[in-house]
Amino acid sequence: MQILVINGPNLNLLGRREPGVYGSMTLAEIEGEMVKAAQDLQVSLTFFQSNHEGALLDRIHAAAADDTAGIIINPGAFTHTSIALRDAVSGVAIPTVEVHLSNIHAREAFRAHSYLAAVAVGQVCGFGPQGYLMALCGLVSRLRKGLAAP
Ligand code: DQA
Repeated sequence: MQILVINGPNLNLLGRREPGVYGSMTLAEIEGEMVKAAQDLQVSLTFFQSNHEGALLDRIHAAAADDTAGIIINPGAFTHTSIALRDAVSGVAIPTVEVHLSNIHAREAFRAHSYLAAVAVGQVCGFGPQGYLMALCGLVSRLRKGLAAP
């Protein structure tokens, strides 16, 4: 089972970006932890990070043509702005879990709204890097039950 893990803008800065909010782990370290969890779950992961909205859309579209069974995405600030990203996720109809390191509902009001949430199978936020592992477990379990995208 192939899972695509996408990180959006500024998440390449993890480790040195606002550590009080996002923690001290780098994106590479988080991906390393995910690889270990994926081995236990017997699934394979592909990683993609971009600061560019169009590149994220293109990668999601490409997932429809490869063997991607599910997507885990932290869209960063595009969560709160991008109808195009939401349309890409609903367009490919690949079950997708939305992840945020911080609790977006406990921060500035503009972060509380996610354009993606309504087309995601679920949202994990507020658990730091652990949230990516929680998303992986939840998504794989859902896929193994044969549940489709919402
Ligand atoms: C974030 C939350 C967003 O509001 C913010 O723009 C990010 C990171 C998170 O992981 O907590 O870039 O998605």
